[in-house]
Amino acid sequence: MIKEILEKQYFNKDDVRTLLLAKGEDLKLLLDRALAVKLEKLDHYVHLRGLIELSNICRKSCLYCGVRSGNTKVVRYTITDDEVLECAQMAYKLGYGSVAIQSGERNDRAFTERITKLVKEIKKIGNGALGITLSLGEQTPEVYREWFEAGAHRYLLRIESSNEDLYYKIHPHDETHDFKKRLDCIDSLLSIGYQTGTGVMIGLPFQTIDDLADDLFFFKNKNVAMVGMGPFIPHPDTPLYEFAGEIPPAEERMNLTLKMIAVARLMMPEINMVAATANQTIDPMGREKAILAGANVIMPNLTPNKYREEYLIYPDKACVGDKPEQCSSCLGFRMKSIKHEILYNAWGDSKAFTKKTNAN
Ligand code: 5AD
Ligand code: FES
Repeated sequence: MIKEILEKQYFNKDDVRTLLLAKGEDLKLLLDRALAVKLEKLDHYVHLRGLIELSNICRKSCLYCGVRSGNTKVVRYTITDDEVLECAQMAYKLGYGSVAIQSGERNDRAFTERITKLVKEIKKIGNGALGITLSLGEQTPEVYREWFEAGAHRYLLRIESSNEDLYYKIHPHDETHDFKKRLDCIDSLLSIGYQTGTGVMIGLPFQTIDDLADDLFFFKNKNVAMVGMGPFIPHPDTPLYEFAGEIPPAEERMNLTLKMIAVARLMMPEINMVAATANQTIDPMGREKAILAGANVIMPNLTPNKYREEYLIYPDKACVGDKPEQCSSCLGFRMKSIKHEILYNAWGDSKAFTKKTNAN
């Protein structure tokens, strides 16, 4: 049955459901096929994005997130401009090729202007040597455009769940957390011309296999260039922790994540897909497993170590104590051990996006 499905060029929802339920030998067949498709359509290279966690100040209060505004235990910080540029210099020096700036959500003008300025400064390093990904939440189309014109060319905004009902079970239902606004933002990013990435958490309370199958079709229908998915990890200082006993155990969440990555790779062979750090948090080999299931991007952390403990969107985040140089060589070894290789000094754009752009 799985073999027949894997032969198909297009999956229907039943196919996807079956693949997401695969176990044992079937699971192995699925993962092997996804790896083969990745190696055939892309290559064995892994792209790096040096992650800069700019600030944990956030206007939102998502029910799963450790840095939600409602969590008073967090000491709030913002990295200085100099520190951001030092991180970017470090990325350049280590040959990472790209940086990703992530932050709690703020939409005041002081914040958005600061980002514009930082993007322009980062672009000067090595004469545009670094690709820039932003992950700064929901903004107006004007702000998205301003950042794009300043030189950012990729944007990550996870839908978190494409099922509106589930979305409101994991977010407060109010004006600041509006599902339709989220959709509009993704559309706006796509129309401005960003390489746009979206994604979901896997193993959320109340989430079904049907929801996850719909998420995959959502990514495909939006024709996004990048997908980022990782296991949900309950954070004790958040409201969703109440349901920590009701979600699948870590191993199951890991396997479900690998299946989601594998099916995404089969449905969208040329997208970029991240092996999220959350994978490594619940399984020491999680990132390697994600790469072998079809992912091709890793985001090593470049945030100055003194801030990292305060950017715990989920607990026990991996690599929090590592220095960038250690991270870089560690990743090199880890990738070699699974017959992959890091591609240094390249932006590592999504092939799906490059093709789409050339066709227009
Ligand atoms: N577990 C796993 N992932 C989480 N994220 C936020 N909180 C958690 C958590 N508790 C993810 C969200 C967000 C990304 C930055 O981190 O999907 O988009
Ligand atoms: Fe900050 Fe969700 S809690 S964006």
